[in-house]
Amino acid sequence: MSKVLVTGGTGYIGSHTVVELINEGFEVVIVDNLSNSNVEVLNGIEKITGVRPAFENIDCVDYVAMDNMMDKYGKIDAIIHFAASKAVGESVEKPLLYYRNNLVSLINLLQLMPVHKIKNFVFSSSCTVYGQPDILPVTEGAPIKPALSPYGNTKQIGEEIIRDTIYANPTSYQSIVLRYFNPIGAHASAEIGELPNGVPNNLLPFVTQTAIGLRKQLQVFGNDYDTPDGSCIRDYIHVVDLAKAHVIAVKRMLDGKSGDSLETFNLGTGRGLSVLEIIKTFEEVNQVKVPYKIVSRREGDIEKVWADPTYANEVLGWKAMETVEETLRSAWAWELNLANRKN
Ligand code: UD1
Repeated sequence: MSKVLVTGGTGYIGSHTVVELINEGFEVVIVDNLSNSNVEVLNGIEKITGVRPAFENIDCVDYVAMDNMMDKYGKIDAIIHFAASKAVGESVEKPLLYYRNNLVSLINLLQLMPVHKIKNFVFSSSCTVYGQPDILPVTEGAPIKPALSPYGNTKQIGEEIIRDTIYANPTSYQSIVLRYFNPIGAHASAEIGELPNGVPNNLLPFVTQTAIGLRKQLQVFGNDYDTPDGSCIRDYIHVVDLAKAHVIAVKRMLDGKSGDSLETFNLGTGRGLSVLEIIKTFEEVNQVKVPYKIVSRREGDIEKVWADPTYANEVLGWKAMETVEETLRSAWAWELNLANRKN
């Protein structure tokens, strides 16, 4: 049984990926400092899979603790590195926190890999590296634009650190960098889902929390963009589809199928939807109202971006399968389940 270390494994994308890894027969070790997640996520993972993965409450910034943890678990076949801070606004206010959390943890892992004879590394990157692309849909070959936030910069620099490390040590490392578009939705069981601490920054948790009455009103950031209905366009992808891509990436490296020691893939559906379309579809499929008002633009927002996923489809052998309707149903089922738990 191959063993995968998942940093940030109790987080949103991390927990869904842990489920898919366990379903595919991998042994999983989760490292998470619970800075933006809850240890109860492990119960959800266990309910779904029947397996409770090993869990270590460690901050990846702590090199010695990470070194000791790797000693403890013995041979690790691959690392999937999710653990990172991801609130764009907060990163503008506290840049050093973001550079430290996101870059020191990455450097620690890359330094520890040869020490523990771990060769395979999957990195969580973001479509944010493209900024506002000149050509849509955006391919992996599109130019990297100057980052609009320290958070975005950590993803760009992170990719560069991985690239330089691999090129300097081509026999010690191979990596797959995954550039996520906008993950939404929850596991079909509604046992795990997105659980932001405090007021959500992202659209979907704000939509579900407004629909259930936890928030009075959703703010739609701008309706004067150059898009058909004036609101921003994104490529929303079901988190389980996204999770499955990580399992495929790990298998690809373990099976020696990578075309190069460093590969980069867009993970999106290829379909762009506006904020207003998301709200309308959410209301229709779930038969629930989402009170909203149009407010001014949010600083740093990209007008429109959606993926060209052809390279991931053809080379990685992965495709987003879920419809947006099903995805929005799953997001609502998760919010309802959370509400039931509290009552
Ligand atoms: C943002 C980051 C992205 C990062 C991701 C992680 C940018 C440009 N993108 O994605 O790099 O990986 O967060 O969390 O910073 N919206 C509203 N009302 C809300 C919330 C959002 O109208 O209350 C709109 C936004 O203006 C945007 C869309 O919904 O048009 C999606 O927003 P969000 O979910 O925050 O994701 P991104 O900004 O695309």
